[in-house]
Amino acid sequence: ELSFIHRFEPATDSSRPPLLLLHGTGGDENDLLGLGRTISPGSALLSPRGKILENGMPRFFRRLAEGVFDEADVKFRANELADFVTEARKAYGLEAPIAVGFSNGANIAAAMLMLRPDALSGAALLRAMVPLSETPPVDLAGKRVLMTSGAMDPIIPADNAKRLAASLSEAGAEVQHHMLPTGHNLSQTDLQLLVKWFSEQS
Ligand code: MLT
Repeated sequence: ELSFIHRFEPATDSSRPPLLLLHGTGGDENDLLGLGRTISPGSALLSPRGKILENGMPRFFRRLAEGVFDEADVKFRANELADFVTEARKAYGLEAPIAVGFSNGANIAAAMLMLRPDALSGAALLRAMVPLSETPPVDLAGKRVLMTSGAMDPIIPADNAKRLAASLSEAGAEVQHHMLPTGHNLSQTDLQLLVKWFSEQS
């Protein structure tokens, strides 16, 4: 028994990287499977359900208010999720996955990059914000990170997303950050950027 409720789809193309799919608040392990199949056809898909319930809505860590995080819980949950990735890699025979996270799922992926960089080989962070008030010292050399943000996102100030992109690239990640003329929801442009970024994976 692995430590998170999850869905797993084995790879059908072993040259494609495994994806760790991380849903937004109120989503579940089924939400992003279709997105994963579209943006990286043939990849193995590992899709856990967040363990926190906020008024019945699954999430990956606790928050005190919208955009105000319980940082001790962010740290605990990022480590717990990284441990799950280790278990799942053994159980399913996977390389380190690329995280694909939306909103709350993007935020926990950003925290994992900072706290447990070995758990992920890279990350696509869709509508992410700064997960920890202080970035721990970390070496992200060799990790590719795609970030897409909404210039009109009512939850995430553009400056906050830019700060996250800056701290990831200061840590050595190869960051591509796109500020799109949209809000919190994903757009067709997000999909196009994801498809392109995945097709450029070595
Ligand atoms: C969060 O709590 O991670 C952010 O506010 C995004 C969200 O899930 O609404």
